[in-house]
Amino acid sequence: MKKLIIGLAVSAAFSIPAVAQESVEVLHWWTSGGEAAALNVLKTNLEKQGVKWNDMPVAGGGGEAAMTAVRARVTSGNPPTAVQLLGFDIQDWAKQGVLADLTPLATKEGWDKVVPAALQRFSKYQGKWVAVPVNVHSTNWVWANRDVLAKSGVTSDPKTFDEFIADAEKVQKAGYIAIAHGGQPWQEATIFDSIVLTTGGVDYYRKAFVELDPKALNSATTLKVFQRMSQIRKLVDKDFSGRDWNVASGMVISGKAGFQIMGDWAKGEFLHAHKVPGKDFDCFRFPGTQGMVSFNSDQFAMFKLADPQKTAAQMKMAADVMAPSFQSSFNVVKGSVPARTDVPDTAFDACGKKGIADLAEANRNNTLVGSIAHGHAVPAAIKNAFYDVITRHFNGQIDDKKAVAEMVSAAQN
Ligand code: BGC
Repeated sequence: MKKLIIGLAVSAAFSIPAVAQESVEVLHWWTSGGEAAALNVLKTNLEKQGVKWNDMPVAGGGGEAAMTAVRARVTSGNPPTAVQLLGFDIQDWAKQGVLADLTPLATKEGWDKVVPAALQRFSKYQGKWVAVPVNVHSTNWVWANRDVLAKSGVTSDPKTFDEFIADAEKVQKAGYIAIAHGGQPWQEATIFDSIVLTTGGVDYYRKAFVELDPKALNSATTLKVFQRMSQIRKLVDKDFSGRDWNVASGMVISGKAGFQIMGDWAKGEFLHAHKVPGKDFDCFRFPGTQGMVSFNSDQFAMFKLADPQKTAAQMKMAADVMAPSFQSSFNVVKGSVPARTDVPDTAFDACGKKGIADLAEANRNNTLVGSIAHGHAVPAAIKNAFYDVITRHFNGQIDDKKAVAEMVSAAQN
């Protein structure tokens, strides 16, 4: 009898189905070397807790291709666990009622107190947390190869737009590519963020490109912005068309080019190539934008899922992303800065420390603005209409004056 019971118990034990492993499926556009290295920090963290990582990379900086992929998944009723989203895109998905409510976790962990209001404005919808901010990036940066600058006779960081142009011309005369650029609409728009700030300052930036005030848009300042975009256009190489942003970073890293005007994700590429700030490369605010920050924040929007086991893994991922230690270790690699105000800057290099200090200063002085190019100034429909004008102008299809007029109508539609 005893034998029989043991026998039954053993066979029962063997027939118990193994508990399925928890998993998350994450859709993102972090496919460059530096980006993948940063994402790996999150992946490893989750795997340590037994959560399997199903990667859904959709290449294409700025996330345009990724947005098409998300739409297909959500429409077919099968959303991924988490999706990398920018600013207004989070709000658009929230409006459709497809995002999960993270408020109980947020309350338990006190996110309200540590996430800057400028980010919460996008992480929350109708008072409920629907996304977790991974970082704060900013777009008004210049990345420079120190050796190329020295060989070109550029001795110090330029402080104004005109000084920058003069330095870039020196680099060009010395036989290098002055500005490494990738001709894709979002990259041209990224340069545009800086040119708007340096030309008109934060008040004009907000009036024209956040509030879409027709007078501010249809102005001499906007004309000057486009004239300056034309000046930049003369300093890029002839093969810029279609080039990926990280390939352009690679040109500065390898000493083919002097400068790149790009968000601080570029630093991720320099670090990935084992380059050291202050030794191999320099980072500085786009000349004339010192004290101002045009920011964007990558957030993981959490989608509503039917399976409770998937939801449990989703909450683990959300909690992990918000942990101060993760915010430090991830952003050190990514080039961005923490999305929490209570993370020390100890682990960050000189550019990261500057990024953290600049963000805090801009927040205090009300000189922090959402990036036009990266979905934090206006919703996607207007952003894309702006992209179109900026790119056609950069490619010589319309002149400065026509570009101003088209920006005004893009804002109205
Ligand atoms: C994202 C960055 C990313 C960059 C290039 C930006 O929109 O915020 O995280 O590295 O695009 O892919």
